[in-house]
Amino acid sequence: MNNIRNFCIIAHIDHGKSTLADRLLEMTGTIEKRKMKDQVLDTMDLERERGITIKLQPATMIHRSSQTNADLTQTNAENKGEFLYKDLTFKIRGAAFEVKKQLGLGHKENVYQNALEIEFKKRGLNVEKEKGIVISYEGNRVGMYRPDFIIDDKVIVELKALPFIGKKEEKQMWTYLKGSKYKLLLLINFSSEDVYFRRIVFDTARALKSQRNSASSQRESAQVKNYVLNLIDTPGHVDFGYEVSRSLAAVEGAVLLVDATKGVQAQTLANLYQAVELGLEIVPVVNKIDLPNAQVEKTKSEIVSILGCRPEEIILASGKTGEGVNEILRAIVERVPAPAGHSEKPLRALVFDSKYDPYKGVLAYVRVVDGEIKKEDKLFLMVKKVKAEALEVGRFRPQLEPDDKLETGQIGYVATGLRSVEECRVGDTITLSVISNFQFPISNKSTKDGIEKELKTNLQPLSGYKEVRPMVYASFYPQEGEDYNQMRDALEKLKLNDAALTFEGESSLALGRGFRLGFLGLLHLEIIQERLKREFGFRPVITTPSVVYEVIKTSNKTEKIYSASEMPDAGVIKEIREPYAGLEILTPAQYLGDVMKLVGETTRSSYLSTEYIDKDRVSLKFNSPLSEIIVNFHDALKSVSKGFASMNYEISDYKPYDLVRLDVYVAEEKVDAFAQIVPREKAFSEGRKIVKKLKEVIPRQNFMIKLQAAIGGKVIARESISAFRKDVTGHLYGGDITRKRKLLEKQKKGKKRMTASGRAHIPQEAFLKVLKN
Ligand code: GTP
Repeated sequence: MNNIRNFCIIAHIDHGKSTLADRLLEMTGTIEKRKMKDQVLDTMDLERERGITIKLQPATMIHRSSQTNADLTQTNAENKGEFLYKDLTFKIRGAAFEVKKQLGLGHKENVYQNALEIEFKKRGLNVEKEKGIVISYEGNRVGMYRPDFIIDDKVIVELKALPFIGKKEEKQMWTYLKGSKYKLLLLINFSSEDVYFRRIVFDTARALKSQRNSASSQRESAQVKNYVLNLIDTPGHVDFGYEVSRSLAAVEGAVLLVDATKGVQAQTLANLYQAVELGLEIVPVVNKIDLPNAQVEKTKSEIVSILGCRPEEIILASGKTGEGVNEILRAIVERVPAPAGHSEKPLRALVFDSKYDPYKGVLAYVRVVDGEIKKEDKLFLMVKKVKAEALEVGRFRPQLEPDDKLETGQIGYVATGLRSVEECRVGDTITLSVISNFQFPISNKSTKDGIEKELKTNLQPLSGYKEVRPMVYASFYPQEGEDYNQMRDALEKLKLNDAALTFEGESSLALGRGFRLGFLGLLHLEIIQERLKREFGFRPVITTPSVVYEVIKTSNKTEKIYSASEMPDAGVIKEIREPYAGLEILTPAQYLGDVMKLVGETTRSSYLSTEYIDKDRVSLKFNSPLSEIIVNFHDALKSVSKGFASMNYEISDYKPYDLVRLDVYVAEEKVDAFAQIVPREKAFSEGRKIVKKLKEVIPRQNFMIKLQAAIGGKVIARESISAFRKDVTGHLYGGDITRKRKLLEKQKKGKKRMTASGRAHIPQEAFLKVLKN
């Protein structure tokens, strides 16, 4: 167990977790470089396209940790101390970005070199082009090296226009650097999609140590140890917070990643608090330092103030270029504790994820806390009270690799043969259904039955299990009625793999038969919508997403309301209650006013507190109706803060409010899909908004369409879409006005008939556009 390190990466969305995970896999040789594709751990197509992690995917890496590794020597030198020639590096990078932006890909090296010389000079840098550097051997001059540039007599810049920069090129640069008086070499390759930078640092103290080390390499190699590093990549989005919490419970350490261009954000904090509460060792990292607008020092000081760590504990890295990644690996080995558990105790394994596999049944992703799991063990899930068998056990490499057993402290998978993830939920504890064979030190050892009874009463499931409940409901209606059964099959298939998704059949007058689906949040909804489209070809009509309301009737009965159309008539309602959430927003101080205004004007939230995280980043707390913050609020927040503010929320309780059902009629027919539950004071403005929007999105038809919004049958807003006027007089020449009038009159009569009988066709895009606001 001593050589195991279990860790996960926590960060705000898009701060670079998956990219760093890729580098870790590559640098530990878990995946060969040539087989690497970006974001290896984001396995679903959808995740790749949108660049977000939805399902976490663990990986086991074997890492040889040694102090004499030349790579470590290079990067540690600067990570331990200051970022060497930081300003100069940023200026050089800025110049290279500009050249790449203007010239693009495909030129020869000397073209980039000439352009770069112009850019360097424009930026006031002192440039020496192809200056000769003498290479000496035992005091004799043995050759000359001419780097592309020397900048300010401090930094060597080498340019390449190669399809790929490998270890060979980097080693060569390292050798050049070693033979010179300079400490920093920047290797820039223009032929990759993004400009490739590699900072190679050399300082003499380290060089001497490295020489000493290589002299005694035989002795040292005995100290090199193989470490098993189990990484769990976690989803960053607020919808999947529970998965993050279970990942955290399965590990001892967390790499806290903060994007140097964005700084600390709401989910950085939310995840960090959880990690600290669970007692994890935190390895703080400032990521994306390769970007020209990286604010390394500022981000570092933000981390110091939220974590209370020393600045030198923070690692500077770029998941993209690989800079600092070796240092992260070393910190994981040195700082994260080995797992503590009892191999002699009965099995307890935490399920931190589960996935349906058509051949092996549900795969439980587990962390073995006590005991061990072997193939063919008879298993028992303690919360769901389900029996299963370990058909296969193994590790994530990162593809599934069968093994004989998983020992205490290990992370791996168990194929259970179960039919649905519903039976093997995240947070459950797996033990053995027969536990009498254990050498468990207990008092009553007199009989086999006695031992088993005592074990069963003593053995508690691991804490923290929570049944995730949908927060948002929306109805999905197939476009064609006959698709109903196929759509049910599709939803059942999706559900096999997604315990948080719920659905049940329902029907509506306007839309026919469909399903009411429950989601964790809007991103979850969009994912299901997208998967229905891609994997099964369905483009259902979707109703306005709604939270779950509670209605207390005059008869004192409480009912849960999942969609506006279910809301009973006002006459029988005593009180309507809606869910509230604790909302935390993190924003740079300069947007504080705009954020407060947005929250104040659009959300009915009550203000709780303001706290400065450092001099220009503020945390604001509110108590907000969930319905106000789940639909469009996140986008609005991003837009008032130029993308810098971030939010996180947690459901708190239900509170009463004066809410009403707003109905919408199109061509005098009530369309349930557009019904909404809104605060009474917002009903008029919402009503006007929706009919206006409908007017924009429903195409004209050959009769006039009335659009109305109403509360309890009373119309509060109206619009109309005028009919097409077919050019019935176009063929007439000249001035026969009476004939023209006659034709128009006839057309008008025809239309009147149609208006009376007409059913407006509402295209599907219209539903989506209106519901998205
Ligand atoms: P979620 O899984 O959605 O939470 O995102 P993530 O944190 O896994 O981020 P991801 O690795 O997908 O990176 C987000 C974006 O940042 C991608 O476009 C990456 O290419 C880019 N990126 C990640 N790390 C770096 C880095 O070190 N430098 C630069 N320049 N870009 C990076």
